[in-house]
Amino acid sequence: MGEILLVIDEGTTSARAMLFTPAGDCIASESAELTQHYPAAGLVEHDAAEIWERTQRCAAAVVERAGGPDAIAAIGITNQRETVVFWDRTTGEPLAPAIVWQDRRSADLCRTMKERGDEPGVQARTGLLLDPYFSGTKIAWAMANWPQLKEAGERLAIGTVESWLVWKLTGGNHVTDATNASRTLLMGLGSGGWSDGLLDLFDCPRGALPEIVDCAGRFGETTLFGGRIPICGMAGDQQAATIGQACLTPGDTKATFGTGAFMLTNAGERQPTSRHRLLSTVLCQLGGRRTYAIEGSVFVAGSVVKWLRDSLGLIANAGETEALARSVDDNGGVYFVPALSGLGAPWWEPGARGSISGLSLASGKAHVVRAALEAMAHQSHDLKTAFAADGCDWSRLRIDGGMVTNDWIAQDLADMLDVTVERPDFTETTALGAAMLAGLGCGLFATLEEASAMRGRVKIFEPAMTAQARTARLSGWQRAVTGVIR
Ligand code: G3P
Repeated sequence: MGEILLVIDEGTTSARAMLFTPAGDCIASESAELTQHYPAAGLVEHDAAEIWERTQRCAAAVVERAGGPDAIAAIGITNQRETVVFWDRTTGEPLAPAIVWQDRRSADLCRTMKERGDEPGVQARTGLLLDPYFSGTKIAWAMANWPQLKEAGERLAIGTVESWLVWKLTGGNHVTDATNASRTLLMGLGSGGWSDGLLDLFDCPRGALPEIVDCAGRFGETTLFGGRIPICGMAGDQQAATIGQACLTPGDTKATFGTGAFMLTNAGERQPTSRHRLLSTVLCQLGGRRTYAIEGSVFVAGSVVKWLRDSLGLIANAGETEALARSVDDNGGVYFVPALSGLGAPWWEPGARGSISGLSLASGKAHVVRAALEAMAHQSHDLKTAFAADGCDWSRLRIDGGMVTNDWIAQDLADMLDVTVERPDFTETTALGAAMLAGLGCGLFATLEEASAMRGRVKIFEPAMTAQARTARLSGWQRAVTGVIR
């Protein structure tokens, strides 16, 4: 058996496969974009067959670059969370579009359930809130609106993206790891098992669901790449990034700025409860023991830059944004609330829509772009306040994700949050976390602490903004964000 770890990172916008050495060096990477389907306002779908085809293609390419399957010790899988796939057990083919985490189609259902008073009980059992973001409400919508799912009867399989990939890789193992399961609204956070009461509430047939397993272990093997490779690590992408950032001690916090932005603080082994509209979730499960996290989820981060590029044509590429933000002294009074798919934590307003406000004849492209980037720190600040109110204030923040290769954003986060910000030189911490779990699962490492040596050097950003400037920015943001909440 070789020592190379193969990571499959199936995100919202692309499928990727990467190779890591046990020392943490990324030695190969392949990616393929995924088609985003927007059938109507608020709806976001993926084609699960395309997810599989692109993932398989990327994985096959890196296995070849490794010199064949014998060089690979194990596969680690990490994925966009909450997105739900429906397929037929007998054919292994999708029965419906995959409903993506950003999709808001179950907003009415959530409103009805909240009005009925269901939210406190759901939060107590799952750590989550009633928002279209989570898989359970998407499943309830699909069961009510797509007749082929009920017609499939016992042939129906339902799972999040890692389940779908394991099914395809192994030819029929139906498993999910506890981090992904904890995002469905169907798992008891304390018990770590599917809850009959929740399955009834969301009309989800138990027989369609996968078995909930640990994040490291042996979950089956694939023979699709010319030899046997075991699957030994699994975690949702934000949990994987938290592990990849070595947030292994209670209080350690990371923020990933990918398509969305997700802040997770390690909350230890006792199930936490948020009183300020944050989420309690599984950070990792090893040997049946769960470590928990408190999470703040922001739905739009990198996707706002993509929107500026693809929908407005304001920039030609994401790299331009740093120079544009630096080209003006300040935002010129312009505020951008990127509620392009509703607002997540701590607002949870699926009906909110984005806004650009404070425009004048003196405003230019640079102000709008700068305002979009500033929104990252503004949203992070709202979350830091909620975390502090829940007794988990951040004393230091570890950042990663595609957006924070931009030094201007990293410094703005340090300034606006007034904490030291730490950015690893290798910012693909999601994939790194999945590699650590796979290495643990296949026995290359004895503990996660040992695996965390894979994380390399970091760059530090210290706050350098006056309190007065910070307060002025934040009061403008508060006005703007309250303006978009209906
Ligand atoms: O909860 C959604 C999250 O897992 C999506 O992550 O990396 O695709 O923005 P990403």
